[in-house]
Amino acid sequence: MMDTETKQAKRKENFAKLDEAIAARKGERGALMPVLQEAQAIFGYVPQDVQIRIANGLGVPLTEVYGVSTFYSQFALEEQGRHIIGLCLGTACYVRGAQKILDRLSSELDCKVGHTTKDGAFTLNATRCLGACGLAPVMMIDDEVYGRLTPGEVPGILAKYKDQQAS
Ligand code: FES
Repeated sequence: MMDTETKQAKRKENFAKLDEAIAARKGERGALMPVLQEAQAIFGYVPQDVQIRIANGLGVPLTEVYGVSTFYSQFALEEQGRHIIGLCLGTACYVRGAQKILDRLSSELDCKVGHTTKDGAFTLNATRCLGACGLAPVMMIDDEVYGRLTPGEVPGILAKYKDQQAS
């Protein structure tokens, strides 16, 4: 864990990098998207203070920055957990009970979809079709795919990741 001083120094450094990215594209047409992508690469997510810096730096309305960052799922608005869960809510998975899996994940983790658990261990996302409909319902945790899921399997799967952290 980083102490507060290190965190603040890192934050300052990240904002300096962001300012450079903004300065490099200022006045360019369509600068917002690449600057947001750089912001995401620098910070790992695009929180509100970063959005404000971009809006001021590029001279675009904050509502536009917010609109673009929420429209594209590639942008995260919150700090991401150490493990990213992507539960498919595509049609095939949905009809095979993905909502029940999602409800179980949500209650096991005490975390709503689109958010990160309080301990920073997991971010719970719903995704579009993962291209593995034959395995519906499907979820991914980081790069691992889990198919033909039942709600009862959820705690065991999550436990594997919790153990990894403890070791
Ligand atoms: S709908 Fe879930 S993998 Fe295709």
